[in-house]
Amino acid sequence: MLIPQTSTSLIETLRLRRQQLANLINFPAILWSGSNSSRNFPANAFPFRASSHFLYFAGLPLSKAAIRLEAGKLELFIDDPSPSSALWHGEMPTREEIAQKIGADVARPMAELESWVEDVATLAVQDAATWTQQSQLLNRWVLPQSPPQGIDLELAKAIVTLRLTHDQAALTQLRKAAAVTVEAHKAGMAATPKAKLEAEVRAAMEGVIIAHNMTTSYNSIVTVHGEVLHNEEYHHPLQSGDLLLSDVGAETQTGWAGDVTRTWPVSGKFSSTQRDIYNVVLAAHDACIAKIHPGIEYGDIHLLAATVIAEGLVELGILQGNPQDLVEMDAHALFFPHGIGHLLGLDVHDMEDLGDLAGYEEGRERSDRFGLSYLRLNRPLRAGMLVTIEPGFYQVPAILNDANVRSKYQNVVNWQRLSEFADVRGIRIEDDVLVTEIGSEVLTAALPNSSSAVEDLVSC
Ligand code: GLY
Ligand code: MN
Ligand code: MN
Repeated sequence: MLIPQTSTSLIETLRLRRQQLANLINFPAILWSGSNSSRNFPANAFPFRASSHFLYFAGLPLSKAAIRLEAGKLELFIDDPSPSSALWHGEMPTREEIAQKIGADVARPMAELESWVEDVATLAVQDAATWTQQSQLLNRWVLPQSPPQGIDLELAKAIVTLRLTHDQAALTQLRKAAAVTVEAHKAGMAATPKAKLEAEVRAAMEGVIIAHNMTTSYNSIVTVHGEVLHNEEYHHPLQSGDLLLSDVGAETQTGWAGDVTRTWPVSGKFSSTQRDIYNVVLAAHDACIAKIHPGIEYGDIHLLAATVIAEGLVELGILQGNPQDLVEMDAHALFFPHGIGHLLGLDVHDMEDLGDLAGYEEGRERSDRFGLSYLRLNRPLRAGMLVTIEPGFYQVPAILNDANVRSKYQNVVNWQRLSEFADVRGIRIEDDVLVTEIGSEVLTAALPNSSSAVEDLVSC
Protein backbone atom coordinates (compact mmCIF):
# COMPACT_ATOMS: atom_id res chain seq x y z
CA MET A 1 0.00 0.00 0.00
CA LEU A 2 1.52 3.29 -1.07
CA ILE A 3 0.32 5.99 1.24
CA PRO A 4 0.77 9.71 0.71
CA GLN A 5 3.38 11.50 2.80
CA THR A 6 2.14 13.33 5.84
CA SER A 7 3.83 16.34 7.40
CA THR A 8 4.19 17.62 10.95
CA SER A 9 1.71 20.37 10.20
CA LEU A 10 -0.86 17.88 8.84
CA ILE A 11 -0.44 15.75 11.97
CA GLU A 12 -1.03 18.89 14.04
CA THR A 13 -4.16 19.65 12.00
CA LEU A 14 -5.47 16.12 12.51
CA ARG A 15 -4.88 16.47 16.27
CA LEU A 16 -6.69 19.79 16.29
CA ARG A 17 -9.70 18.30 14.43
CA ARG A 18 -9.90 15.48 17.00
CA GLN A 19 -9.71 17.97 19.85
CA GLN A 20 -12.44 20.06 18.25
CA LEU A 21 -14.61 16.95 18.04
CA ALA A 22 -13.90 16.22 21.70
CA ASN A 23 -15.14 19.72 22.55
CA LEU A 24 -18.50 18.87 20.94
CA ILE A 25 -19.21 15.32 22.18
CA ASN A 26 -18.65 13.56 25.49
CA PHE A 27 -18.77 9.95 24.29
CA PRO A 28 -16.35 7.85 22.21
CA ALA A 29 -16.76 7.37 18.46
CA ILE A 30 -15.43 4.75 16.08
CA LEU A 31 -15.07 5.64 12.41
CA TRP A 32 -14.42 2.83 9.94
CA SER A 33 -12.49 3.49 6.73
CA GLY A 34 -14.30 0.87 4.63
CA SER A 35 -12.98 -1.76 2.27
CA ASN A 36 -12.80 -2.43 -1.48
CA SER A 37 -15.82 -3.95 -3.13
CA SER A 38 -15.05 -6.68 -5.62
CA ARG A 39 -15.94 -6.35 -9.29
CA ASN A 40 -16.31 -9.95 -10.40
CA PHE A 41 -14.07 -12.07 -8.14
CA PRO A 42 -12.51 -11.17 -4.80
CA ALA A 43 -9.04 -10.20 -6.01
CA ASN A 44 -10.38 -7.94 -8.79
CA ALA A 45 -11.63 -4.97 -6.85
CA PHE A 46 -13.13 -1.56 -7.63
CA PRO A 47 -10.77 1.28 -6.73
CA PHE A 48 -10.80 1.89 -2.99
CA ARG A 49 -12.21 5.14 -1.59
CA ALA A 50 -11.95 5.59 2.18
CA SER A 51 -14.92 7.00 4.08
CA SER A 52 -14.77 10.79 4.14
CA HIS A 53 -15.45 11.05 7.88
CA PHE A 54 -12.52 8.69 8.48
CA LEU A 55 -10.31 10.71 6.13
CA TYR A 56 -11.17 13.93 7.91
CA PHE A 57 -9.73 12.68 11.22
CA ALA A 58 -7.16 10.10 10.04
CA GLY A 59 -5.84 11.95 6.99
CA LEU A 60 -4.83 8.83 5.03
CA PRO A 61 -6.85 6.56 2.73
CA LEU A 62 -6.25 3.36 4.72
CA SER A 63 -8.45 0.40 3.89
CA LYS A 64 -9.92 -2.05 6.44
CA ALA A 65 -9.04 0.27 9.30
CA ALA A 66 -10.96 2.00 12.08
CA ILE A 67 -10.16 4.85 14.44
CA ARG A 68 -11.55 5.26 17.92
CA LEU A 69 -11.77 8.87 19.00
CA GLU A 70 -12.22 9.83 22.63
CA ALA A 71 -11.31 13.02 24.43
CA GLY A 72 -9.01 14.10 21.59
CA LYS A 73 -7.10 10.80 21.52
CA LEU A 74 -6.92 8.52 18.49
CA GLU A 75 -6.59 4.76 18.66
CA LEU A 76 -5.87 3.13 15.31
CA PHE A 77 -7.14 -0.37 14.54
CA ILE A 78 -5.54 -1.98 11.51
CA ASP A 79 -3.90 -5.30 10.77
CA ASP A 80 -0.28 -5.63 9.82
CA PRO A 81 0.09 -6.78 6.21
CA SER A 82 0.04 -10.55 5.81
CA PRO A 83 3.41 -12.11 4.88
CA SER A 84 2.08 -13.22 1.47
CA SER A 85 0.79 -9.78 0.50
CA ALA A 86 4.34 -8.54 -0.20
CA LEU A 87 4.40 -10.85 -3.23
CA TRP A 88 1.38 -9.20 -4.83
CA HIS A 89 1.36 -5.71 -3.36
CA GLY A 90 4.98 -5.03 -2.39
CA GLU A 91 6.28 -4.07 1.03
CA MET A 92 3.55 -2.45 3.08
CA PRO A 93 3.95 -0.11 6.04
CA THR A 94 3.42 -1.72 9.42
CA ARG A 95 0.69 -0.73 11.83
CA GLU A 96 3.21 1.21 13.91
CA GLU A 97 4.53 3.10 10.87
CA ILE A 98 1.02 4.09 9.87
CA ALA A 99 0.21 5.10 13.44
CA GLN A 100 3.20 7.44 13.40
CA LYS A 101 2.16 8.99 10.11
CA ILE A 102 -1.25 10.00 11.42
CA GLY A 103 -0.18 10.85 14.96
CA ALA A 104 -2.17 8.00 16.57
CA ASP A 105 -1.84 7.64 20.33
CA VAL A 106 -2.22 3.84 20.25
CA ALA A 107 -2.30 1.22 17.48
CA ARG A 108 -3.96 -2.20 17.80
CA PRO A 109 -4.92 -5.11 15.52
CA MET A 110 -8.45 -5.12 14.14
CA ALA A 111 -9.41 -8.16 16.21
CA GLU A 112 -9.14 -6.02 19.37
CA LEU A 113 -11.76 -3.55 18.19
CA GLU A 114 -14.57 -5.65 19.68
CA SER A 115 -13.27 -4.85 23.17
CA TRP A 116 -13.64 -1.12 22.58
CA VAL A 117 -17.19 -0.77 21.29
CA GLU A 118 -19.12 -0.05 24.48
CA ASP A 119 -21.31 3.06 24.21
CA VAL A 120 -19.61 4.26 21.05
CA ALA A 121 -21.21 6.27 18.29
CA THR A 122 -20.49 5.66 14.64
CA LEU A 123 -21.55 6.60 11.11
CA ALA A 124 -22.34 4.07 8.42
CA VAL A 125 -19.78 3.41 5.72
CA GLN A 126 -21.08 2.81 2.18
CA ASP A 127 -19.70 -0.66 1.45
CA ALA A 128 -21.78 -3.59 2.62
CA ALA A 129 -18.94 -5.61 4.14
CA THR A 130 -18.09 -2.72 6.44
CA TRP A 131 -21.58 -1.67 7.49
CA THR A 132 -22.34 -5.31 8.22
CA GLN A 133 -19.25 -5.42 10.45
CA GLN A 134 -20.28 -2.15 12.10
CA SER A 135 -23.75 -3.54 12.81
CA GLN A 136 -22.40 -6.82 14.18
CA LEU A 137 -19.81 -5.25 16.47
CA LEU A 138 -22.13 -2.57 17.81
CA ASN A 139 -25.05 -5.01 18.00
CA ARG A 140 -27.46 -2.62 16.25
CA TRP A 141 -28.23 -1.75 12.66
CA VAL A 142 -25.82 0.76 11.12
CA LEU A 143 -27.16 1.31 7.62
CA PRO A 144 -25.93 3.81 5.03
CA GLN A 145 -29.43 4.61 3.80
CA SER A 146 -30.93 5.22 7.27
CA PRO A 147 -30.55 8.56 9.04
CA PRO A 148 -28.37 8.32 12.17
CA GLN A 149 -30.20 8.15 15.52
CA GLY A 150 -29.32 8.77 19.17
CA ILE A 151 -25.61 9.28 19.83
CA ASP A 152 -24.88 8.57 16.16
CA LEU A 153 -26.98 11.61 15.32
CA GLU A 154 -25.09 13.69 17.92
CA LEU A 155 -21.82 12.53 16.37
CA ALA A 156 -23.09 13.36 12.88
CA LYS A 157 -24.10 16.87 13.96
CA ALA A 158 -20.71 17.45 15.60
CA ILE A 159 -18.86 16.31 12.48
CA VAL A 160 -21.09 18.50 10.29
CA THR A 161 -20.21 21.47 12.51
CA LEU A 162 -16.51 20.83 11.87
CA ARG A 163 -16.65 19.90 8.19
CA LEU A 164 -18.95 22.77 7.14
CA THR A 165 -16.01 25.16 7.09
CA HIS A 166 -12.52 24.27 5.91
CA ASP A 167 -9.23 24.68 7.79
CA GLN A 168 -5.97 25.64 6.05
CA ALA A 169 -4.89 22.02 5.48
CA ALA A 170 -8.20 21.27 3.77
CA LEU A 171 -7.97 24.42 1.68
CA THR A 172 -4.48 23.49 0.51
CA GLN A 173 -5.89 20.21 -0.78
CA LEU A 174 -9.00 21.82 -2.26
CA ARG A 175 -6.83 24.33 -4.15
CA LYS A 176 -4.78 21.44 -5.58
CA ALA A 177 -7.96 19.66 -6.68
CA ALA A 178 -9.23 22.91 -8.23
CA ALA A 179 -5.97 23.53 -10.12
CA VAL A 180 -5.89 20.05 -11.65
CA THR A 181 -9.60 20.28 -12.47
CA VAL A 182 -8.94 23.53 -14.35
CA GLU A 183 -6.08 21.93 -16.27
CA ALA A 184 -8.30 18.96 -17.17
CA HIS A 185 -10.97 21.26 -18.61
CA LYS A 186 -8.41 23.15 -20.69
CA ALA A 187 -7.14 19.80 -22.03
CA GLY A 188 -10.71 18.79 -22.88
CA MET A 189 -11.30 21.98 -24.83
CA ALA A 190 -7.97 21.64 -26.66
CA ALA A 191 -8.71 18.00 -27.56
CA THR A 192 -12.15 18.74 -29.01
CA PRO A 193 -11.30 19.83 -32.58
CA LYS A 194 -9.58 16.51 -33.34
CA ALA A 195 -11.95 14.30 -31.32
CA LYS A 196 -14.65 12.25 -32.99
CA LEU A 197 -16.38 10.91 -29.86
CA GLU A 198 -17.27 12.25 -26.43
CA ALA A 199 -15.05 9.45 -25.06
CA GLU A 200 -11.93 11.02 -26.58
CA VAL A 201 -12.54 14.32 -24.80
CA ARG A 202 -13.24 12.47 -21.57
CA ALA A 203 -9.94 10.61 -22.01
CA ALA A 204 -8.03 13.88 -22.49
CA MET A 205 -9.60 15.34 -19.35
CA GLU A 206 -9.21 12.31 -17.12
CA GLY A 207 -5.70 11.81 -18.54
CA VAL A 208 -4.65 15.06 -16.88
CA ILE A 209 -6.18 13.97 -13.58
CA ILE A 210 -4.54 10.54 -13.72
CA ALA A 211 -1.20 12.10 -14.69
CA HIS A 212 -1.32 14.07 -11.42
CA ASN A 213 -1.87 10.77 -9.59
CA MET A 214 -5.36 11.91 -8.68
CA THR A 215 -8.74 10.34 -9.39
CA THR A 216 -12.03 11.84 -10.52
CA SER A 217 -14.18 12.99 -7.64
CA TYR A 218 -17.33 11.62 -9.35
CA ASN A 219 -18.17 9.96 -12.63
CA SER A 220 -17.33 12.44 -15.38
CA ILE A 221 -20.07 13.91 -17.53
CA VAL A 222 -18.77 14.67 -21.02
CA THR A 223 -21.72 14.80 -23.32
CA VAL A 224 -23.41 16.43 -26.27
CA HIS A 225 -26.66 15.55 -24.50
CA GLY A 226 -26.33 17.94 -21.58
CA GLU A 227 -30.09 17.80 -21.12
CA VAL A 228 -29.53 14.43 -19.41
CA LEU A 229 -28.32 15.93 -16.15
CA HIS A 230 -26.08 13.11 -14.97
CA ASN A 231 -25.30 11.59 -18.35
CA GLU A 232 -22.57 8.99 -17.94
CA GLU A 233 -22.38 7.73 -21.51
CA TYR A 234 -19.57 8.74 -23.80
CA HIS A 235 -20.38 7.07 -27.11
CA HIS A 236 -21.97 9.92 -29.04
CA PRO A 237 -20.14 11.34 -32.03
CA LEU A 238 -19.17 15.01 -31.85
CA GLN A 239 -20.79 16.99 -34.61
CA SER A 240 -20.25 20.54 -35.68
CA GLY A 241 -23.17 22.45 -34.23
CA ASP A 242 -23.18 20.44 -30.98
CA LEU A 243 -22.47 21.87 -27.58
CA LEU A 244 -20.31 19.66 -25.37
CA LEU A 245 -21.12 19.84 -21.65
CA SER A 246 -18.25 18.62 -19.45
CA ASP A 247 -18.70 18.25 -15.70
CA VAL A 248 -15.40 16.80 -14.50
CA GLY A 249 -13.56 17.15 -11.19
CA ALA A 250 -10.27 15.95 -9.71
CA GLU A 251 -9.88 14.42 -6.27
CA THR A 252 -6.58 14.55 -4.39
CA GLN A 253 -4.98 11.43 -2.92
CA THR A 254 -6.38 12.29 0.49
CA GLY A 255 -9.89 12.71 -0.88
CA TRP A 256 -10.52 16.44 -1.44
CA ALA A 257 -12.69 17.28 -4.44
CA GLY A 258 -13.02 19.68 -7.34
CA ASP A 259 -16.28 20.03 -9.31
CA VAL A 260 -16.37 22.15 -12.47
CA THR A 261 -18.57 22.35 -15.53
CA ARG A 262 -17.94 24.12 -18.78
CA THR A 263 -19.95 23.95 -21.97
CA TRP A 264 -18.26 24.62 -25.29
CA PRO A 265 -19.08 24.45 -28.98
CA VAL A 266 -17.59 21.44 -30.76
CA SER A 267 -16.86 23.64 -33.79
CA GLY A 268 -15.12 26.29 -31.69
CA LYS A 269 -17.88 28.83 -32.46
CA PHE A 270 -21.20 29.21 -30.65
CA SER A 271 -24.21 29.72 -32.92
CA SER A 272 -26.08 32.93 -32.15
CA THR A 273 -28.84 31.02 -30.32
CA GLN A 274 -26.26 29.06 -28.30
CA ARG A 275 -24.39 32.24 -27.43
CA ASP A 276 -27.62 33.98 -26.34
CA ILE A 277 -28.54 31.23 -23.91
CA TYR A 278 -24.92 30.79 -22.78
CA ASN A 279 -24.84 34.46 -21.82
CA VAL A 280 -28.06 34.12 -19.80
CA VAL A 281 -26.53 31.23 -17.83
CA LEU A 282 -23.28 33.15 -17.39
CA ALA A 283 -25.17 36.22 -16.17
CA ALA A 284 -26.83 34.06 -13.50
CA HIS A 285 -23.46 32.52 -12.55
CA ASP A 286 -21.77 35.92 -12.24
CA ALA A 287 -24.67 37.52 -10.34
CA CYS A 288 -24.67 34.70 -7.79
CA ILE A 289 -20.91 34.79 -7.22
CA ALA A 290 -20.99 38.59 -6.84
CA LYS A 291 -23.49 38.20 -3.98
CA ILE A 292 -21.63 35.54 -2.00
CA HIS A 293 -20.47 36.72 1.40
CA PRO A 294 -20.83 35.55 5.00
CA GLY A 295 -24.42 35.79 6.22
CA ILE A 296 -26.20 35.57 2.88
CA GLU A 297 -28.76 32.80 2.57
CA TYR A 298 -27.77 30.23 -0.06
CA GLY A 299 -31.48 29.82 -0.83
CA ASP A 300 -31.53 33.49 -1.84
CA ILE A 301 -28.58 32.85 -4.16
CA HIS A 302 -30.64 30.10 -5.79
CA LEU A 303 -33.60 32.44 -6.22
CA LEU A 304 -31.29 35.09 -7.66
CA ALA A 305 -30.12 32.61 -10.29
CA ALA A 306 -33.73 31.71 -11.05
CA THR A 307 -34.63 35.40 -11.45
CA VAL A 308 -31.67 36.22 -13.70
CA ILE A 309 -32.48 33.20 -15.88
CA ALA A 310 -36.16 34.19 -16.04
CA GLU A 311 -35.19 37.77 -16.98
CA GLY A 312 -32.85 36.52 -19.70
CA LEU A 313 -35.44 34.15 -21.13
CA VAL A 314 -38.05 36.93 -21.15
CA GLU A 315 -35.61 39.14 -23.06
CA LEU A 316 -35.08 36.35 -25.58
CA GLY A 317 -38.85 35.93 -25.94
CA ILE A 318 -38.86 32.35 -24.62
CA LEU A 319 -40.74 33.21 -21.41
CA GLN A 320 -43.49 35.80 -21.21
CA GLY A 321 -44.39 37.80 -18.10
CA ASN A 322 -42.83 39.46 -15.11
CA PRO A 323 -39.62 37.59 -14.09
CA GLN A 324 -40.47 37.67 -10.36
CA ASP A 325 -43.92 36.24 -11.05
CA LEU A 326 -42.40 33.62 -13.32
CA VAL A 327 -40.04 32.52 -10.55
CA GLU A 328 -42.92 32.37 -8.08
CA MET A 329 -44.75 29.99 -10.39
CA ASP A 330 -41.51 27.99 -10.96
CA ALA A 331 -41.47 28.73 -14.70
CA HIS A 332 -37.65 29.08 -14.58
CA ALA A 333 -37.49 25.44 -13.43
CA LEU A 334 -38.81 24.31 -16.81
CA PHE A 335 -35.27 25.07 -18.01
CA PHE A 336 -33.26 25.18 -14.73
CA PRO A 337 -34.71 22.26 -12.78
CA HIS A 338 -31.88 21.74 -10.27
CA GLY A 339 -30.45 23.71 -7.37
CA ILE A 340 -27.78 26.39 -7.79
CA GLY A 341 -25.19 24.14 -6.12
CA HIS A 342 -24.01 22.39 -2.99
CA LEU A 343 -21.29 22.09 -0.38
CA LEU A 344 -17.93 20.83 -1.61
CA GLY A 345 -15.16 19.24 0.44
CA LEU A 346 -14.18 15.62 0.88
CA ASP A 347 -17.33 14.65 -1.00
CA VAL A 348 -18.44 16.31 -4.19
CA HIS A 349 -21.82 16.79 -2.53
CA ASP A 350 -20.23 17.21 0.84
CA MET A 351 -21.67 15.05 3.62
CA GLU A 352 -24.71 13.94 1.61
CA ASP A 353 -24.21 10.50 3.18
CA LEU A 354 -26.01 12.21 6.10
CA GLY A 355 -28.99 13.25 3.97
CA ASP A 356 -29.75 16.94 4.42
CA LEU A 357 -28.13 17.21 7.87
CA ALA A 358 -25.21 19.21 6.48
CA GLY A 359 -27.00 21.00 3.66
CA TYR A 360 -30.01 22.23 5.61
CA GLU A 361 -29.94 24.49 8.66
CA GLU A 362 -31.54 22.78 11.66
CA GLY A 363 -35.32 23.11 11.52
CA ARG A 364 -35.45 23.51 7.74
CA GLU A 365 -36.73 20.90 5.34
CA ARG A 366 -36.76 20.47 1.60
CA SER A 367 -39.55 22.24 -0.20
CA ASP A 368 -41.70 20.15 -2.51
CA ARG A 369 -41.94 23.05 -4.98
CA PHE A 370 -40.83 22.16 -8.52
CA GLY A 371 -38.33 25.04 -8.48
CA LEU A 372 -36.88 24.35 -5.00
CA SER A 373 -37.00 20.61 -4.36
CA TYR A 374 -33.48 19.95 -5.67
CA LEU A 375 -31.91 22.70 -3.59
CA ARG A 376 -29.14 20.80 -1.75
CA LEU A 377 -27.95 23.65 0.46
CA ASN A 378 -30.22 25.88 2.50
CA ARG A 379 -28.17 27.71 5.11
CA PRO A 380 -26.69 31.12 5.69
CA LEU A 381 -23.14 31.03 4.29
CA ARG A 382 -20.13 31.35 6.59
CA ALA A 383 -16.49 32.17 5.91
CA GLY A 384 -14.60 28.96 5.20
CA MET A 385 -17.47 27.18 3.43
CA LEU A 386 -16.80 25.99 -0.12
CA VAL A 387 -19.82 25.85 -2.40
CA THR A 388 -20.46 25.33 -6.07
CA ILE A 389 -22.33 27.82 -8.22
CA GLU A 390 -23.74 25.97 -11.22
CA PRO A 391 -26.69 27.49 -13.03
CA GLY A 392 -27.84 25.83 -16.22
CA PHE A 393 -30.35 25.79 -19.04
CA TYR A 394 -31.64 22.49 -20.39
CA GLN A 395 -34.35 21.35 -22.75
CA VAL A 396 -35.37 18.14 -20.99
CA PRO A 397 -37.96 16.25 -23.05
CA ALA A 398 -39.42 14.62 -19.94
CA ILE A 399 -40.27 18.09 -18.60
CA LEU A 400 -41.11 20.04 -21.74
CA ASN A 401 -43.20 17.30 -23.36
CA ASP A 402 -45.17 16.49 -20.22
CA ALA A 403 -48.84 17.25 -20.93
CA ASN A 404 -49.53 18.60 -17.42
CA VAL A 405 -46.47 20.84 -17.53
CA ARG A 406 -47.38 22.15 -20.97
CA SER A 407 -50.88 22.97 -19.92
CA LYS A 408 -49.79 24.64 -16.65
CA TYR A 409 -47.21 26.81 -18.41
CA GLN A 410 -49.07 27.14 -21.73
CA ASN A 411 -49.31 30.91 -21.52
CA VAL A 412 -45.89 31.76 -20.11
CA VAL A 413 -43.77 29.89 -22.66
CA ASN A 414 -43.60 31.02 -26.28
CA TRP A 415 -43.25 27.49 -27.65
CA GLN A 416 -42.77 28.73 -31.21
CA ARG A 417 -39.89 30.97 -30.14
CA LEU A 418 -38.41 28.15 -28.04
CA SER A 419 -38.26 25.94 -31.12
CA GLU A 420 -35.73 28.35 -32.62
CA PHE A 421 -33.29 27.32 -29.84
CA ALA A 422 -33.29 23.64 -30.76
CA ASP A 423 -29.47 23.60 -30.95
CA VAL A 424 -29.27 24.26 -27.20
CA ARG A 425 -29.92 20.99 -25.41
CA GLY A 426 -27.94 21.66 -22.24
CA ILE A 427 -25.63 24.34 -20.87
CA ARG A 428 -24.14 24.48 -17.36
CA ILE A 429 -21.37 26.69 -16.00
CA GLU A 430 -20.01 25.57 -12.62
CA ASP A 431 -17.26 26.95 -10.39
CA ASP A 432 -16.02 26.28 -6.86
CA VAL A 433 -16.46 29.30 -4.62
CA LEU A 434 -14.89 29.77 -1.20
CA VAL A 435 -16.75 32.07 1.20
CA THR A 436 -14.19 34.45 2.71
CA GLU A 437 -14.43 36.98 5.56
CA ILE A 438 -15.08 39.76 3.08
CA GLY A 439 -16.85 38.04 0.19
CA SER A 440 -15.69 35.13 -1.89
CA GLU A 441 -12.82 33.63 -3.84
CA VAL A 442 -13.41 31.48 -6.91
CA LEU A 443 -10.92 28.62 -6.55
CA THR A 444 -11.45 27.66 -10.19
CA ALA A 445 -11.18 31.21 -11.58
CA ALA A 446 -8.17 30.25 -13.72
CA LEU A 447 -10.59 28.53 -16.10
CA PRO A 448 -12.17 31.22 -18.29
CA ASN A 449 -15.91 31.16 -18.78
CA SER A 450 -16.81 33.98 -21.17
CA SER A 451 -18.13 32.68 -24.49
CA SER A 452 -15.24 34.21 -26.45
CA ALA A 453 -12.55 32.88 -24.08
CA VAL A 454 -14.08 29.41 -24.23
CA GLU A 455 -14.09 29.60 -28.04
CA ASP A 456 -10.43 30.58 -27.99
CA LEU A 457 -9.52 27.62 -25.77
CA VAL A 458 -11.29 25.20 -28.11
CA SER A 459 -9.75 26.66 -31.23
CA CYS A 460 -6.17 27.24 -30.15
N1 GLY B 1 -20.84 16.95 -10.59
C1 GLY B 1 -22.10 16.83 -9.96
C2 GLY B 1 -22.65 18.13 -9.61
O1 GLY B 1 -22.22 19.14 -10.14
O2 GLY B 1 -23.47 18.26 -8.77
MN1 MN C 1 -21.70 20.41 -8.57
MN1 MN D 1 -20.44 19.24 -11.30
